[in-house]
Amino acid sequence: MARQEPLLVPRHSTDGSSIRNEEEEDALLTGQRTNRGLGRRGWTFWREVGLFTWALVATVAVIILSVFIQHGAVGKHDSKPAWGPNGKPTGKRNLIFMVSDGMGPTSLEMTRSWRQLVEGLPVDDTLVLDRHLVGSSRTRSSSSLVTDSAAGATAFSCGFKSYNGAISVLPDHSPCGTVLEAAALNGYKTGLVVTTRITDATPACFASHANLRQYEDLIAAQEVGDHPLGKTVDLILGGGRCHFLPNTTEESCRADDRDLVEFAKEGGYNYIHTRDEFDALNGGTEAKLPLLGLFAKGDIPFEIDRRHVNDVYPSLEEMTRTALKTLSEATKDSDTGFFIMIEGSRIDHAGHGNDPAAQVHEVLAYDKAFAAVLEFLENDSTPGVLVSTSDHETGGLAAARQLHKSYPEYLWLPSVLANASHSSEYLHAKFNAYRNSNEKGNRAAQRTYVREEILHKGLGISDATDEEVDSLIESDAQWPASYVLADIISRRAQIGWSTHGHSGVDVNIYASSGADAFPLVGNHENIEVGRFLADYLDVDVDAVTKKLQSSSNLWTGNPLGEDVRTDSLDTYHGDFKKRSIGAENEITHIDGRSCGCGAIH
Ligand SMILES: *[C@@H]1O[C@H](CO)[C@@H](O)[C@H](O)[C@H]1NC(C)=O
Ligand SMILES: *[C@@H]1O[C@H](CO)[C@@H](O)[C@H](O)[C@H]1NC(C)=O
Ligand SMILES: *[C@@H]1O[C@H](CO)[C@@H](O)[C@H](O)[C@H]1NC(C)=O
Ligand SMILES: [Zn+2]
Ligand SMILES: [Zn+2]
Repeated sequence: MARQEPLLVPRHSTDGSSIRNEEEEDALLTGQRTNRGLGRRGWTFWREVGLFTWALVATVAVIILSVFIQHGAVGKHDSKPAWGPNGKPTGKRNLIFMVSDGMGPTSLEMTRSWRQLVEGLPVDDTLVLDRHLVGSSRTRSSSSLVTDSAAGATAFSCGFKSYNGAISVLPDHSPCGTVLEAAALNGYKTGLVVTTRITDATPACFASHANLRQYEDLIAAQEVGDHPLGKTVDLILGGGRCHFLPNTTEESCRADDRDLVEFAKEGGYNYIHTRDEFDALNGGTEAKLPLLGLFAKGDIPFEIDRRHVNDVYPSLEEMTRTALKTLSEATKDSDTGFFIMIEGSRIDHAGHGNDPAAQVHEVLAYDKAFAAVLEFLENDSTPGVLVSTSDHETGGLAAARQLHKSYPEYLWLPSVLANASHSSEYLHAKFNAYRNSNEKGNRAAQRTYVREEILHKGLGISDATDEEVDSLIESDAQWPASYVLADIISRRAQIGWSTHGHSGVDVNIYASSGADAFPLVGNHENIEVGRFLADYLDVDVDAVTKKLQSSSNLWTGNPLGEDVRTDSLDTYHGDFKKRSIGAENEITHIDGRSCGCGAIH
């Protein structure tokens, strides 16, 4: 249908309509109305109207036909009989749910164009994701038009809107049953794969309940079975080891001396934490469930940095392939399949850091994991569906940026991003190490270090101004070096950001096929994604909610104050002049010592 578009919008017809197009472009630029007189409507005008009408009718016909064909395929397709004739899914099946945390529509364009440049691909080359777009999701939470990841993931896990910060609890703080818990109770094997801390908001929402996402010590305990339903997650791969280790050990970030690794082992988990142990799983053929794999103390490094230390951390794609193999082997002789949530967790962090070079690598890593899931589904004899969406957009990313008062050129420059070899987060840590070491010289020596080691080697930038170099040297906790670095590269690439936080734009929904995920075709509320997950697995999430709410041993952490808004939108409090930079939500993961206590992603 794309090929018909030129008919609908005749850009260069021979009768001078291209001039009219110019007028319209001017109007868009200047905001003035065009003045196209009725008197000019001659034969060509009516010919255009005719052409347009014909094209419209043809397009509608094609759409109606394709809808018929798609719906026909849903019932008929013998090899993938996921949905039965009464609209209920039947038979053994697997559900793979992927979350691209913080990935908005612009992230796709940015990554696609960057990859075309770096790999010398044609202009119509797309990401795998692009070929599986089925719809979009509206993301607001119960307490704000801009959601956080906790409320966003609660919409997916429980199918209900809740307040920012809620980990699968409702606005009244009562727990809501999750699709993963319901799946586990119904005999499915379950898994969580992430690149951030496994205790971070998105994975937390599938296997734990807490009044606030910051209660990561509590979340960790529930995730490995200290939970009224017992152990609900069979496979865990990701980061966030520090919340599982007692405060008597050096790597710990727990407030207490509980040893959750020991607790998990007693509960039957096979615990691994090194690259060698991961490799010994042999892509999943040697893995034994339940499996707890925590490969970083905090977050796994950004892909742009991880690829340089591939011998230490597995990639999202590798973890994905291993998880799918493990779960399909474990359910080989079962009538019931598996449910897994796989998150490209740190697309969001690149957005928070306003770091476009880090983000393109994160999105591409996610695209590869998505492709790996598709490959698995194509090969596997058990039918299954892959659904992928984001909880929200992060950064208010724009593929354009006005740098000066003069009218901007229409461009942005992926070649700038292509020259970066590390993230701003990594370079920040490197610069801090230098700053705190004995090597640190006088101001002149520091400037040389910044120009050579940080900007040139790290970002591929050799035209930094003295002001830029000095602002890096003078950066502090409120406006850290990572922000300065991200701004230096973003300006050169002419990439824009409107916030270090999230934004309220609709995000994309992708699926292995529009036919298998037909309830998600079109524009949807994020809770409908959650309801789809439960419907596809045919599990009763409400029954789990009842169980949890009647349980006396579910502790969701200290309650929030009465004044915390949970079920109505936040309102204006004159913030535009009140709040000071970074006073509340300091990003704590930046120096790699993520405790997960302060960063509200
Ligand atoms: C470690 O945890 C115990 C309680 O489990 C607590 O009494 C102690 O103060 C903690 N130690 C530190 C250094 O935080
Ligand atoms: C899928 O099948 C192809 C061809 O047999 C094989 O090369 C590939 O490794 C398989 N992939 C997965 C994920 O099983
Ligand atoms: C990328 O790096 C190369 C080699 O240092 C340099 O010649 C080129 O100008 C850089 N490109 C951009 C856009 O900065
Ligand atoms: Zn998020
Ligand atoms: Zn975030």
